[in-house]
Amino acid sequence: MRANERSLIDVERNKQKRQIHWDEEIYALEQERIFSRCWLFLAHESLIPNPGDFFCTYMGEDSAIVTRDQNNQIRAFINSCTHRGARVCHAESGHTRAFVCPYHGWTFGIDGSLLSVPSERSVYGSVLDGQRGQLALQPVPRVETFAGFIFGNFDHNAPSLREYLGDVAWYMDAFTARAGVELLGPPVRSIINCNWKVHSENFVDGYHVGWTHQPALKVIGGPMSAIAGNARLPEEGGIVIAAGYGHGVGIIWEAAVGLHRGPDYYQFLSSKRPEVQALLGEPKARIYASHMATTIFPNCSFLHGTNVWKVWMPRGPHRTEVWTWAMAEKDMPDELKLKIQKDVMRGFGTAGTFESDDADNFQSVTEVNQGYVTRHALMDANLGIEKDGVDDTFPGRVSKHIVSEVGVRNCRWMADTWRDEENVGARVADIRCQAFGETYMLRPSTRRGTCRTWKLPRKLIWRSITRSASSITRKPDCSVPEITGHGSIPWSLRTFITGCPS
Ligand code: FES
Ligand SMILES: [Fe+2]
Repeated sequence: MRANERSLIDVERNKQKRQIHWDEEIYALEQERIFSRCWLFLAHESLIPNPGDFFCTYMGEDSAIVTRDQNNQIRAFINSCTHRGARVCHAESGHTRAFVCPYHGWTFGIDGSLLSVPSERSVYGSVLDGQRGQLALQPVPRVETFAGFIFGNFDHNAPSLREYLGDVAWYMDAFTARAGVELLGPPVRSIINCNWKVHSENFVDGYHVGWTHQPALKVIGGPMSAIAGNARLPEEGGIVIAAGYGHGVGIIWEAAVGLHRGPDYYQFLSSKRPEVQALLGEPKARIYASHMATTIFPNCSFLHGTNVWKVWMPRGPHRTEVWTWAMAEKDMPDELKLKIQKDVMRGFGTAGTFESDDADNFQSVTEVNQGYVTRHALMDANLGIEKDGVDDTFPGRVSKHIVSEVGVRNCRWMADTWRDEENVGARVADIRCQAFGETYMLRPSTRRGTCRTWKLPRKLIWRSITRSASSITRKPDCSVPEITGHGSIPWSLRTFITGCPS
């Protein structure tokens, strides 16, 4: 399998084997290497505002509970009893003082501690006395927040959430930093028969919007209807960004209100734009007024402007559970929040116009690979490649066209740079997981064309790379680089790059 892993991605030609959407073995590796090591969206603080509140979710296929304990601290645990493993919480969310296991009645506090064991003295004697700490619900070791969004990570050694979000955090500031946001729940949940990566990739795929959603765009009207059918694809109408660690951002300028009907949302944005400009500057104010589609690797996506927040829960290689919230700015009037919630469900709920369009494609992209010959064929990711570059204002790898697959092909960019080792040594580098989730790749990243060391992950990666560029080698017979000569292997490298097959 190890050799096959590396043959899944053709860095030179920007191709990917279709197996990545089908094979059980790849899916199992993803659970081990991605979902147990990346930062995963768990909840938003607005969903658990008070001590005693909880929200149940998944990290990969691991069931998890997110709580706000009596000290107002946000925690997360594996939702499985430490006695014989039953799920301790079956509710989706709520408020409680304790979780009582339905199997034998062990009771756990909102902080995960083991509070009581039925008939403890008579059935256990003193056996559990010294073990109570170990018998608490298994905690998620890293829980951090950005703009109220709560993420968890099973890997003790992962970089901080802020480092992991990288450039995506810069873009998210535009709509989170002024007044804050909240998710309007409960989320709508549905199952789609497709691989989870198809969703994640789709939310930075602007190419499909005009074509797949042509009827919906025509019905809704407004500025976005101009791209219906891709009859007119304004080249200067937006940019697409590969934003490090596998994240991607697609911006359509001045189109934040594109999928909302009526003037109220436009009026709200217009009234707040000067505040954003004063607080964050014109580039982010412009983003605030623009439509932004983003995927936070691996499985969380949002649409600023359309006000959608989604998480794609893997349920096997050919099944994904989709959760959809409406996202609103905290100081929006209640009636506007309600309108936004209705608009989101109309477009992106289970039977939403856009959701239904997308689901057909997602299913098709997955199920066609049941054919042996088909799944050994390739997919192409060359869209917009001649526009890839950097921008003085907007961070990340920027493709200056309204549609691009730049997020899928960071590997190509890095491959080009490896040929010029001086550049690798001179630039700030970045670790980026290929959007398909299989291989971490190194890539250089410049912001305004200069080396910005503050952007480096603190712990391990950059010093090694910038000090010893010559240790980054690329075997001529292999598309995956080998990192050699470092004393320790950084977190992200350790996760995916294990060297070339010999
Ligand atoms: S499995 Fe939970 S109390 Fe036994
Ligand atoms: Fe879509």
